[in-house]
Amino acid sequence: MPDQITLRLKNNSADLARAAGLLRHGGLVAFPTETVYGLGGDARSGTAVADIYAAKGRPSFNPLIAHFASAEAARDCVIWSDTAQTLADAFWPGPLTLVLPLRDGHGISPLVTAGLDTLAVRVPAHPAARALLRAFGGPLAAPSANPSGRISPTTAAHVLAGLDGRIAAVIDDGPCGVGLESTIVGLSGTPTLLRPGGLSADRIEEVLGHPLNARTDAGDITAPGQLTSHYAPGAPVRLNAREPRPDEVLLGFGPMPCELNLSASGDLTEAAANLFGHLHQLDATGRPIAVAPIPYHGLGIAINDRLHRAAAPR
Ligand code: TXA
Ligand code: MG
Repeated sequence: MPDQITLRLKNNSADLARAAGLLRHGGLVAFPTETVYGLGGDARSGTAVADIYAAKGRPSFNPLIAHFASAEAARDCVIWSDTAQTLADAFWPGPLTLVLPLRDGHGISPLVTAGLDTLAVRVPAHPAARALLRAFGGPLAAPSANPSGRISPTTAAHVLAGLDGRIAAVIDDGPCGVGLESTIVGLSGTPTLLRPGGLSADRIEEVLGHPLNARTDAGDITAPGQLTSHYAPGAPVRLNAREPRPDEVLLGFGPMPCELNLSASGDLTEAAANLFGHLHQLDATGRPIAVAPIPYHGLGIAINDRLHRAAAPR
């Protein structure tokens, strides 16, 4: 049930000051990042973070990413390392999240980490996200701004479709450029790819000079966004479809007849940016969704990861 009026704000200094004020009073503000829209709340406030879980209907064992205005601000909350510095220098601000051990006096609500002794930290690149973090002056816990288990939002309209009346405001600054959530790398031991995402693992490995460990703990809560049936549309999803069955709508890739195409030219960056928006649109038809094969390299790995979760039994 809606219980508040959700303000529609823009990326200008008056609206950002208003959004920062709402956040200071424990309100939740959805904001654009380069990956997807996030649902932000004060990461130091237990009640704000509890409200994030409640608004999303999110299982409480699923920890959140803390967003910072700068790498320096992130460093105050975690035990930093040379590898963290190398990756931050190369990719921050940008679609990379680092998981590091919490540091004494971090001030982050234990609800953010769901009781883990590590914290996921990220410095987003989107100008509106950066301006909001600066205006607010502290860390924002921000999961993707969608009801738990549903498709991630890449426009303010997607956010409102799922959360209107449940949050204080949304900052509308157009569609997200990357379109896939951040890549998550665990750095509390050997660097490990916890979630493929908007920064391809190849580029991270190039900078590190060695391969990332692959996760071996499937089903564990280390990165619970990786549970089955995440990012799910309402309608069934069938993958690697060469052509649609009579009742299905086809989500294409590369030149082909289809309802919507992730990238007619077969460009994976364009496909990533279109993925969630196209799934939202096809979901609205109420028909089962067939998806053309997507190559397994570069951003195609994260795209396939999200598609497999969308297609998982639920
Ligand atoms: O691009 C993104 O990362 C977006 C935007 C809004 O920044 N955020 C996002 O948040 O995707 P969310 O909450 O939907 O996904 C967070 C992921 C989950 O898979 C969670 O399990 C993992 O981060 N995570 C958070 N803290 C962790 C920790 N301490 N250790 C391991 N995984 C963690
Ligand atoms: Mg999410």
